[in-house]
Amino acid sequence: MKNVAVVGGGLMGSGIAEVSARAGQDVVVVESNDDAAKAALGRLERSLERAEAKGKINSAADVLGRIRVETDLGAVGDREVVVEAIVEDEAAKVDLFKRLDAIVEAPDAILASNTSSIPIMKLGVVTSRPTQVIGIHFFNPVPVLQLVELVPSLLTSEDTTARSRAWVESSLGKQAIDCQDRAGFVVNALLIPFILSAIRMYESGFASAEDIDRGLVLGAAHPQGPLALADLIGLDTTKAVAESLYEEFKEPLYAAPPLLQRMVDAGLLGRKTGRGFYTYG
Ligand code: NAI
Repeated sequence: MKNVAVVGGGLMGSGIAEVSARAGQDVVVVESNDDAAKAALGRLERSLERAEAKGKINSAADVLGRIRVETDLGAVGDREVVVEAIVEDEAAKVDLFKRLDAIVEAPDAILASNTSSIPIMKLGVVTSRPTQVIGIHFFNPVPVLQLVELVPSLLTSEDTTARSRAWVESSLGKQAIDCQDRAGFVVNALLIPFILSAIRMYESGFASAEDIDRGLVLGAAHPQGPLALADLIGLDTTKAVAESLYEEFKEPLYAAPPLLQRMVDAGLLGRKTGRGFYTYG
């Protein structure tokens, strides 16, 4: 598959577009409006310029030349694989999959979601082709992290899973693990309760944010602490994933603590807004 669309050009969508274009593929990114499209393009330019400065790619301009950013979803009509990377909101994703089903022309095109926690079945069944709907879950930052979780639903065909695996491993150079279609898949089902525990610990006054994070970095050899990681993921996304996990399993360990709720209400979303558990320049 050489012909890719990414819907949503935020943190993840721009990363997925970047790795696809760096692998030589023709990429269309669709954003919801002109401002968001401009922001997506700026994000791509900055990331590719950094990659060029570090000698990871020869020419940022060449890679950018393979990416078009559009605001009309009709631009995905001729694509072989479409990766949805819009906000973690089930109703928004369901609506998008219905529209993709009507727009994407190739009968064997793969309709993938980068969702962190919404069951793939919920997206597959609103289309006329649930055998071609699959979770392809990348990790943040996409150009750096190797892992992709492949999440077929009960209705996804073996052919769709095999072609998705070939695309992420052979074309994009990632490494895939197989997951059942359960909220959170493998990594977030383990990681989110860990982050939520760290937020509860901080909220209770048990330790400072810096000390919680230093504890895990120095004592457990984590590359960064859980609160810094929540800021990187985005506190809105962290909260949305926690809510999906709670909805699925009804376990208290997945319940978003009040402090996380209040920070999201306040727009303190982490790195993307300049302030979360830490303040960024
Ligand atoms: P984000 O908030 O950075 O980006 C979402 C983008 O989608 C925004 O640019 C928004 O303008 C755009 N958008 C919203 N509705 C749209 C529509 N109908 N059509 C086109 N564009 C639309 O969010 P982020 O972090 O990139 O997350 C996207 C998805 O990736 C979510 O499902 C999230 O759970 C998942 N994910 C997030 C990770 C993270 O570390 N942030 C890691 C792995 C997956």
